[in-house]
Amino acid sequence: MRKNIVAGNWKMNKTLQEGIALAKEVNELLAGEQPACDVIICTPFIHLASVVPLVDPTKIGVGAENCADKESGAYTGEVSAAMVASTGAKYVILGHSERRAYYHETVDMLTEKVKLALANGLTPIFCVGEVLQEREAGKQNEVVATQLASVLALSPADFSKVILAYEPVWAIGTGKTATPQQAQEMHAFIRGVIAGYYDEDVADNCSILYGGSCKPSNARELFANPDVDGGLIGGAALKAADFKGIIDAFK
Ligand code: PGA
Repeated sequence: MRKNIVAGNWKMNKTLQEGIALAKEVNELLAGEQPACDVIICTPFIHLASVVPLVDPTKIGVGAENCADKESGAYTGEVSAAMVASTGAKYVILGHSERRAYYHETVDMLTEKVKLALANGLTPIFCVGEVLQEREAGKQNEVVATQLASVLALSPADFSKVILAYEPVWAIGTGKTATPQQAQEMHAFIRGVIAGYYDEDVADNCSILYGGSCKPSNARELFANPDVDGGLIGGAALKAADFKGIIDAFK
């Protein structure tokens, strides 16, 4: 079934000690209540093994921000999906636009990463989104449909384990949020692509998160859209109170 989800993406922020402190703070803020959505925090690799035992697993899932496109072996500096899973993490962000742009991750590499994540029991949070130029040229649907190829290659059973995140690149870290209407339009388009490839049921059951300058002040309006099932949160996930404010948008 489709779930409402708020997921934090810490990116390359926080030392281990700072990350531990932030995870504890988020955990404490949620201690007295049951959040009205699933909550996930995605941290740098080195934080995972420390953060997992600190949070209440009935309320907060932990994830990585990436994993390797190879199973194991001589790939200096890489971290495999099996290694991520061995920390107790349950999720992994894949295909983030920063990885696509700065580390040249291609559809083919991401197809491998998705497969390895699933094979190791991790839930991929798979990101898609267009850059400003593409939106201005009216090509956003085409771009997103192409990016979706990495997950549409999956069997329906595997696809049902994937969480999608639409993150217009022009809205990430810029303070420029997509309007609720722009988010809804793209989410409905994505759901339509999934329905066309699989069927209506599979499309209906897929959680599609919005990401890009989401904050407590705009989360409620964004999440109110019928096809927006929550958010992938960058900057605002680095402050426990702001992250909690976004989680509370589902109350
Ligand atoms: P932002 O980042 O909330 O800081 O815009 C979102 C993301 O890149 O996941």
